[in-house]
Amino acid sequence: MSEYRAGTGWDVHRLVPGRPLILGGVTVPFELGLEGHSDADVLAHAVTDAILGAAALGDIGQHFPPSDARWKGADSLIFLKHALELARAAGFELVNIDSTIILERPKLKDYRERIRQSLAGATGMELTSVSVKFKTAEGVGPVGEGKSAEARAVVMLRRG
Ligand code: C5P
Ligand code: MG
Repeated sequence: MSEYRAGTGWDVHRLVPGRPLILGGVTVPFELGLEGHSDADVLAHAVTDAILGAAALGDIGQHFPPSDARWKGADSLIFLKHALELARAAGFELVNIDSTIILERPKLKDYRERIRQSLAGATGMELTSVSVKFKTAEGVGPVGEGKSAEARAVVMLRRG
């Protein structure tokens, strides 16, 4: 009998000048980028937390404290891969990822396949099990005003 576990993740980062916009490991050309201690990949962080959540293994900040100099400018796919290793060590395998990036600008739809491939590559998943969706915030609130980007993720883990 398999045991299934759902997990959710959410993250937000400010949009600032002089930083790259990295989403799911893919650099998207834009005049602003995400501010943070690591590479501030808001999507990778949400997916990482979803995996840790499904396995009840804490959260990203517990495993990768922003105070730790090792993670300055870090490629956040490292966090994602580590979370998956922890989940696998606990006997879980990843079934699927569904995610949404909420960002007013730029349009991301032309990057969907590259971002899906990047997440599939980082997790060893089939492309068909990795979903990435995009929404604006319809001009409302900090995301709508272009001050920040959010990401949400849901994953399913299976054990046994
Ligand atoms: O937010 P809204 O419903 O207007 O988004 C419509 C579509 O625009 C989305 O389904 C998505 O395909 C695309 N989109 C995008 N990049 C964004 C936001 C939305 O490609 N930053
Ligand atoms: Mg983050």
